[in-house]
Amino acid sequence: MTHKPTLLPNTANGTGVKRTRILSVQSLNVPGQSNADSQQRWEEEVRRDSLEAQALLEAAEALRTRDVPVAFPTETVYGLGADATRSAAVQGIYKAKQRPSDNPLIVHVHSREQLEGLLQPPKCPKSQQTTAQSSSLIPPIYEPLIQRFWPGPLTILIPNPPHSPLAPEVTSNLSTFGVRMPSSSLARLLIRLADRPLAAPSANASTKPSPTTAQHVYTDLRGRIDIILDGGPCGVGVESTVVDGLSQPPAILRPGGVGIEEIRSCRGWEDVRIGYKDGALQGRTAPRAPGMKYRHYSPKAKVVLFESGQPMSSVIERILREQASSSPIKIGVIRTRTWEKGLAMPVDRVSPESLNGHRDTSLGLDDTPSPPDTQIQQLSVLSSESKSNSPPCAMDMIDISLGADTHSIARGLFSALRSLDAHNVSTIYVEGIPETEGDLAAAIMNRLRKAAEEEIKS
Ligand code: TXA
Ligand code: MG
Repeated sequence: MTHKPTLLPNTANGTGVKRTRILSVQSLNVPGQSNADSQQRWEEEVRRDSLEAQALLEAAEALRTRDVPVAFPTETVYGLGADATRSAAVQGIYKAKQRPSDNPLIVHVHSREQLEGLLQPPKCPKSQQTTAQSSSLIPPIYEPLIQRFWPGPLTILIPNPPHSPLAPEVTSNLSTFGVRMPSSSLARLLIRLADRPLAAPSANASTKPSPTTAQHVYTDLRGRIDIILDGGPCGVGVESTVVDGLSQPPAILRPGGVGIEEIRSCRGWEDVRIGYKDGALQGRTAPRAPGMKYRHYSPKAKVVLFESGQPMSSVIERILREQASSSPIKIGVIRTRTWEKGLAMPVDRVSPESLNGHRDTSLGLDDTPSPPDTQIQQLSVLSSESKSNSPPCAMDMIDISLGADTHSIARGLFSALRSLDAHNVSTIYVEGIPETEGDLAAAIMNRLRKAAEEEIKS
């Protein structure tokens, strides 16, 4: 167990933050652990007064008493948490993330009872409070989803009651609030110790890909927050699915960690409609006007998304066109199902420092873990126009394979986009997957479309 205090420059940003510390809590972050097992483990750590216990207690105390948010791991992505009942604390989130305040935040609870408590009318004595399912204040449409997917990556919208204890900044003054119970036992433990519902958006700087490691948070928010709890890489890798059961028929507002078909198979959700637009573009190649580009999940590099089924030859053709107009170039390739390493171009050289597929040490961020199925290599490939007689020229390519499995692709996606930015590639070519596969596929393609400036279809 390591405690990794990291000294950082103080960027005088008005938050009073002097340094950002990454505190390891990895052994307390057990996927799928029950509250009882997590509690037992926690009591052992407290008895030993371990560094992990100290870190978690310090984070919980900061959440209760301070207005600077705390970054913590969930099973989806890292969240930037604050006490959802205190306006000043919630404002701290918007300040640290530089997020527009008209974008509402998700409330995280550790238990159903905690959520029911938020819905109770004020001054109702505890003994009379009703938390039994039959008299629940949670809209009944959500019951099958809660039974099946909580704790887990599913956010539901609930009417915000009159006299709600939630700070108005959480809902951006909407009449509903989004809430989820994370399956990360560490996240639930933190919420329980803080004894508050936690408002938490993803812990990236606004417009950047969501963070799936503590180092990603550090890259974006250092000097802006005090504490990053490091629970290791996130298991799901894309954010929660957001559903609205208050509209008729119910709607999916954001695809995410719970698949659309799984939701459709629940009672009352058979006719669920897709309530999001992810800009799936018409036509073979459809560049977006820069002004229309979604500023979400955006690395610095230009992202070109090839829908599933595009042959490698069409990718190579596209790369050679770019190379002709701006050489020398350094490009990134993100492969999933069928594209071969280096797009099967002749490899001139493989840079020895990046041969290790599991750890990308070339980023200058020591100890930045890549998800286990991700392979990253720096190649120098030889390219030439097949019809021309010009000699082949070398081109730098950062080649990332996310593996073929949908879960491994989701886990590695945001990390891959961030790695390629750190390598300063000009363009990232991505192999899409069929989104009809269900499961996480719709979420993966949704995030890729939001990152892409150009989408190439057959
Ligand atoms: O997995 C996740 O959901 C992560 C982790 C940290 O839990 N959180 C996350 O939060 O992705 P954020 O703020 O990046 O995204 C919240 C999404 C946004 O699309 C927001 O518009 C939507 O949820 N949302 C929240 N409250 C809403 C409401 N009352 N009505 C409609 N949409 C809402
Ligand atoms: Mg976000």
